[in-house]
Amino acid sequence: MSHPASPDTAPVSLTTQGSIGILTFDAPPVNALSPQVRQGILDALRRLPRFPELQGLLLCAKGKTFIAGADIKEMQIGQQEPGLPSVIAALEACPVPSVAVLNGAALGGGLEIALACNARIAVPSAKLGFPEVHLGIIPGAGGAERLVRLTPFGSACDFIADGKPISATAARDMGLVDALAEPEALLDMAKALVLNPDLPARPIERSVVAHASDEAWQEAIRNRRKASKGVAAPTTAIQALRDAANMPLDQAQQANRHRYLTLRETRQAKALRGLFFAEREARKVPGLDPRAALSVETLGIVGGGTMGVGIAASALIAGLSVVLVERDGEAAELAKSRVAKLLVSADKRGLLAKVGGLDSALAKLNATADRPALAPCPFVIEAVFEDMAIKQAVLADIEAVVAPEAIIATNTSYLDINAIADTAGRPERVLGLHFFAPANINKLVEVIQTKAASPVALATAFAIADTLRKLPILAQVCDGFIGNRIYTRYRESCDFLLEEGALPQQIDAALIEFGFKMGLYAVSDMSGLDIAWAMRKRRAATRDPKARYSAIADKICEAGRLGQKTGSGWYRYAEGSKTPEVDPWVTELVEAESQRLGITRRAFSNDEIMEHVMQTMAQEAQAVLDEGIALRASDIDLTMVTGFGFPRHQGGPLFWAAQREPAKQPSRKD
Ligand code: NAI
Repeated sequence: MSHPASPDTAPVSLTTQGSIGILTFDAPPVNALSPQVRQGILDALRRLPRFPELQGLLLCAKGKTFIAGADIKEMQIGQQEPGLPSVIAALEACPVPSVAVLNGAALGGGLEIALACNARIAVPSAKLGFPEVHLGIIPGAGGAERLVRLTPFGSACDFIADGKPISATAARDMGLVDALAEPEALLDMAKALVLNPDLPARPIERSVVAHASDEAWQEAIRNRRKASKGVAAPTTAIQALRDAANMPLDQAQQANRHRYLTLRETRQAKALRGLFFAEREARKVPGLDPRAALSVETLGIVGGGTMGVGIAASALIAGLSVVLVERDGEAAELAKSRVAKLLVSADKRGLLAKVGGLDSALAKLNATADRPALAPCPFVIEAVFEDMAIKQAVLADIEAVVAPEAIIATNTSYLDINAIADTAGRPERVLGLHFFAPANINKLVEVIQTKAASPVALATAFAIADTLRKLPILAQVCDGFIGNRIYTRYRESCDFLLEEGALPQQIDAALIEFGFKMGLYAVSDMSGLDIAWAMRKRRAATRDPKARYSAIADKICEAGRLGQKTGSGWYRYAEGSKTPEVDPWVTELVEAESQRLGITRRAFSNDEIMEHVMQTMAQEAQAVLDEGIALRASDIDLTMVTGFGFPRHQGGPLFWAAQREPAKQPSRKD
């Protein structure tokens, strides 16, 4: 029989079953460690002495997770009392042994609580992790000190510094979990475990198992520093482990709490936290009612080129059926084989397990030249050539075969979607859904709201993005929307730097030092220079003749250098290699351009290059915000980070601008 020992409505309750106390977390949706939950645990532990018959304590949770981590709201308003270290200290001072019963995810502070118990029992589907490094911090309540007493050196380093949750089975192999149990047997097994006289001591009372020599720790720290490319937390996490393994416990606890508190206030942690909240904010769109969305089981795609194929693969991975229409049978077959290739690689990564495997996903693809096959599709994405007349004609063709309520989205990169929609019979059903290459991998999708787009069209576009596990960000119509508009300005400004004295490899090196994974010019070579070249040619007639324009990129393309695919572009590439090599031909071209323009070249430091690049990006980002193209600053930062490889720990161009040290702000003379 169960006896309630605290009110039912509390986020933490204490009940007893015979000689076992059961402390239950019930704070939907994920039992986050809010101040109320922490206080609830302390209160429940204080009541324990009233039950002298108790011989063991179980920590259980209602819902689908154990404790999925900190309360995100508290991160915004600042830490409140009681802090997690005092909760954990109280748990470890508890007079009876305890077992954490992991019915689901135990993450961050939730895992620290579980590690304060004598043992942990988990369902096989549970996940355990310290994702703190993704927010620029390390576990703040003794996670490192407990980890080194359960897990050997190598796995402890990876676990805390990767921040990737692991399965319960992997956690058992690492020593974090003592036993696995199916959900129906979980509680009974936990009860038996907590009363078992051989129950191990609490981790904190055990001796360290993560032993390594000084050199091994130093090497782990060095390697991590190199791999984390300017992000501090993963390296600090290993330093915390090293101290946890080598120092007396109280000193390690002090040192690591200090590390946690210091990291929390860093610019990187603020940047990463900002992006964490930005992802949640981005879905809050005024007037967007998710209930208005049409239900879509079959997605139509017209155009099976680079983008159409990637979008189709995304949809099939998400379990949708796809009708992919190409110009003729041969093109349809080619598109089909390209989708199949992407699916094979998705299958290798285990991404098709949930949709019945490769064959079942492929069976849901109908690649055809037969446009009427689109008839059953409530949502059709157009990804044909970037040409207004072709897009308008394709739109009319689609409208002729789909149901009147069907929604049509264009994947155009730059064209005026209002003008595309104007020619539609039902403009309220037309909008933009702008994916980024490679569309099967890149998570960003800009949802472009046209003048006439109906709430149903908007809601369905957001719903499709969600189904495809993308991050949808609302944008209004303008040249390049949010991302490409800022990107275009940024590239243009780098080309101006070339004219003034920099070289492509220097700019790329500065960008990499700042945190980009690749430099701008190396990325351009990888994607191919022809698309942007075609766009520049198209715009040549309407370009303001007085506006500054760099001709270097055009001259590179005119020489037949279109990037990796032609063996040269901004760099040159050895036969079959993707490694960029500095090309004297480009250096000569750049220097000749400076001369032609009468510019005296000068040297630029990496800092100067980045100052220039970031100023330009921030200015354009501010214009995008001021013009109402984006709803909020955080949407813009998220766009650049998610879609354009802007380093996460730098927060985005507007975060950068807001965080500038006052000394670097332009001084105002009164
Ligand atoms: P692509 O040239 O690789 O593919 C276009 C495909 O459309 C071709 O396979 C062509 O056969 C097909 N097509 C042309 N007219 C058609 C018609 N009437 N009916 C059926 N199929 C037709 O072009 P890509 O790169 O896939 O771009 C497609 C669209 O996506 C463009 O608007 C582009 O601006 C946009 N976009 C491209 C990105 C990229 O990185 N490639 C990124 C984001 C958007």
